[in-house]
Amino acid sequence: MCGIVGYVGEKEAAPLLVEGLKKLEYRGYDSAGMATISEKKVLIEKDVGKIEEVDKKVNFKSMKGKIGLAHSRWATHGDVTKENAHPHTSMKEDISIVHNGIIENFADIKKKVGKEGHTFSSDTDTEAIVHLIAAHHEGNLKEAVLKALNELEGAYALGIISSKEPHTLIAARNESPLIIGVGEGENFIASDVPAILEHTKKIIYLDNGEIGVLTKDNVDIFDLEGNKVEKKIHTIEWTVEKAEKGGFDHFMLKEIFEQPSVISETVEGRISEDSIDLNGKTGFTSEEMKRIKRIIIVACGTSWHAGLVGEFMIEELAKIPVEVEYASEFRYRDPIVEKGTLIIAISQSGETADTLAAIRHAKKKGAKILSIVNVKGSSIARESDIVLYTKAGPEIGVASTKAFTTQLIMLYLMTVEIGHVLGHTNDQQVKNRIRDLRLLPLQIQSMLDERKNVHTLAKKFIEKAHALYLGRGINFPIALEGALKLKEVSYVHAEGYPAAEMKHGPIALIDKNMPVVVIATKDDRTYKKVLSNIQEVKARGGIVIAIASKGDRDIKKCVDYILPVPQNSYILTPLLAVVPLQLFAYYVAVLRKHDPDKPKNLAKSVTVE
Ligand code: AGP
Repeated sequence: MCGIVGYVGEKEAAPLLVEGLKKLEYRGYDSAGMATISEKKVLIEKDVGKIEEVDKKVNFKSMKGKIGLAHSRWATHGDVTKENAHPHTSMKEDISIVHNGIIENFADIKKKVGKEGHTFSSDTDTEAIVHLIAAHHEGNLKEAVLKALNELEGAYALGIISSKEPHTLIAARNESPLIIGVGEGENFIASDVPAILEHTKKIIYLDNGEIGVLTKDNVDIFDLEGNKVEKKIHTIEWTVEKAEKGGFDHFMLKEIFEQPSVISETVEGRISEDSIDLNGKTGFTSEEMKRIKRIIIVACGTSWHAGLVGEFMIEELAKIPVEVEYASEFRYRDPIVEKGTLIIAISQSGETADTLAAIRHAKKKGAKILSIVNVKGSSIARESDIVLYTKAGPEIGVASTKAFTTQLIMLYLMTVEIGHVLGHTNDQQVKNRIRDLRLLPLQIQSMLDERKNVHTLAKKFIEKAHALYLGRGINFPIALEGALKLKEVSYVHAEGYPAAEMKHGPIALIDKNMPVVVIATKDDRTYKKVLSNIQEVKARGGIVIAIASKGDRDIKKCVDYILPVPQNSYILTPLLAVVPLQLFAYYVAVLRKHDPDKPKNLAKSVTVE
């Protein structure tokens, strides 16, 4: 996700753009830039770093002009460099653009306009767009933009200005969000409401396949054929603070709700109907996959839980032996690393000190490093041989939610592909696995739509001081994850345990004051055993909350409460079972009057040992 702000009006644009961009920093912050038009010239300032850092270097507010664009980047295509920062300009530097999204056919476009003499100064997909607009420009910016957009494939939110038409700002949207702020003698564009809310509450939501043509006194909307479109002007009643969270009370809830879209974004460009393509520029080739003899996963916290799910997936689908290590323990052992050992580091931030130390420790022993990371250009990414980026966007809430599910998705894609390359999964099975994956966003959304049940249940447990989470098989790590979520945001002591282990100790704790959350989704592997574990708890007066498959009638008779989840393949169950547990932890925290975004004693990224 990136942040976009644009302005055209009677005031100096730069101060408004900087302040607006700062309100969008939660959308991405590895580089920032601004373009204005003054004395018929496009002025550009941009660099790597957070907005504040770049502003200190370039002093954005010194840029002149009553029209401009600003952008904070969350890199997806192209490394984190000054050249790749937005805005980008045409070769004659008379058209400038900012972009949020991914253009699937940018390579073809670069080739096409390259033949017409256009040269590039970055390796972003965005720069292809501005050169395509320039190639189509015959005197009218709107017409040139429409012609270019009709050649694009992929997601975009665009802001475009040109010194040839210094009073016109063009906005365009396909999949990536973009709004228009309607002011008095001034108009705005932005990725999200917070950027412009202090200037106007009158908002037009651009829909897919629409462009906005803004001057200081006018806003016209067109479809891609150039037909005028009438749009409703909405009035936003949010406070600025609430707007930063997209209308949610906390970033944690916003990020739980972003899971359907970020799962789709993470797989976008990596799957077709019947195949998975992880290579791209990752270097994770079939030859690399065939060299793997053993895998060691290193991670911390929630990412370590993702590793445990990954172990299950890899051994089942790729038939490669796996062990999962706490990075903080692995780094002080003398692990056996032979030829063909692949270390997989999992980290949202890419900066966790123990995980970074663990991969350095393994590298010294000759291991190849693959990392699954959310932050492009982070330390762990830079020190890995192969990087598979999740596309969860910035995760602001300290409790990891959307990062976790996108880590699982990346592990799933990787495992299905390795299994296929090694001949353990045939073409039809790959197609089926992709079909199952495509169901997830809607299935997760259906649970988010029923979140009230979770909130109602949370109210019954806010006084409890302890909780036990039980799971078996691929859902044992989800028991651990559910317990960690509750611990870290509500400060309730919660323990995750393999359900079968309960009788080896924890069962001594069971009574009516110890709620037991059991992941009891229907499957042909451990379901019946889990039902027996539930009976054991009930026989001792315990209270059982079951995460159960929708429509499961058997379990209704055995437990006290049910949080239903849709059915999917066994191996994708963790991505569904975790959602009610995330919501449960969030609601208990809020009902106990804690701020789930800033839990006490915790940091978003543990960069110290
Ligand atoms: C998870 O909710 C916690 N915030 C924490 O356990 C986190 O997963 C851990 O610190 C690892 O962080 P990383 O994924 O950025 O490496």
